[in-house]
Amino acid sequence: DSRPLVRYERIWLPVMLFRPILTSQKHFKAEGTDIILTTMPKSGTTWLKALTFSIANRNVFSIHQSPLLSYNPHTLVPFLEYTIYRDQDNPELENIPRPRIFSTHMPFKILPDSIRESECRIIYICRNPLDQFVSHYHFMLQNKIEKDAIPLELDEVFDMFCQGIQPFGPFWDHMLGYWNAHLKNPQKVLFLKYEDLKQDISSHIKKIAEFIGFPFSAEEENQGMIEQISRLCSFENLKNLEVNKSGYFIGSIKNSSFFRKGEVGDWVNHLTPAMAERVKNLTETKFQGSGLVFKM
Ligand code: A3P
Repeated sequence: DSRPLVRYERIWLPVMLFRPILTSQKHFKAEGTDIILTTMPKSGTTWLKALTFSIANRNVFSIHQSPLLSYNPHTLVPFLEYTIYRDQDNPELENIPRPRIFSTHMPFKILPDSIRESECRIIYICRNPLDQFVSHYHFMLQNKIEKDAIPLELDEVFDMFCQGIQPFGPFWDHMLGYWNAHLKNPQKVLFLKYEDLKQDISSHIKKIAEFIGFPFSAEEENQGMIEQISRLCSFENLKNLEVNKSGYFIGSIKNSSFFRKGEVGDWVNHLTPAMAERVKNLTETKFQGSGLVFKM
């Protein structure tokens, strides 16, 4: 099948990830101390991985010797759906230091049962649909992962986006799934927005640390630990590291393609006011009554 996306449970999944997702659904055994980072692609996954990894490991590696300086954040925090489990005991996952940190783009409703049922924590980060769309469009152009099947004209891809057709889409359903899970159990699901982190990273570093059970002591705060983590994980710092300027994450996906502009509102440079209006209206309709809002 040459189509790049397949529809499963009303979700558009990349064909190449369909089997791995089913396998991880069946075999992944979450542990109570696991931390699962969940996102729609292009919503701040790389940033959240760097932050969570640094927060959870701050007593293992000093900031100056952080593995983030020599490894791409996606190497340090693996995607569940890219990790194919060889057998039910996941031997390769046994030796990972605790807490284990994984990430996934799976919508809440198709997460492995063990994630929902165990005590493990979920951190979701999302981003306004206009910037997510623009970021994803550039990511596709850069990596040409879907060159044979997806028409790469912006208008056409935009139209598909509005119909919910994009990897792990529809966009709005993805967010609502985690938003509702957060409302139901805020101890289990932390719900973050990219725009809020851009506005005030320090308070969010504290929030993440508290949520995963690694709060900062007064001494750490006085020593400037939060600022150090913020600087280490900043767009400018990560983008300019040698490891992120070269090499490949997986297949044809370049490490550098995870670092483009890192700004809020870049959509104005790519979308017409009419396109933006269409997405704003769609978003208002989809989120009506949910309590979820985006400043766009
Ligand atoms: P842009 O394409 O708008 O620049 P993901 O990590 O989910 O794939 O999302 C990628 C988006 O996050 C890209 O957005 C990328 O530039 C931005 N990004 C990557 N690292 C970041 C960081 N440390 N801080 C802020 N934004 C970051």
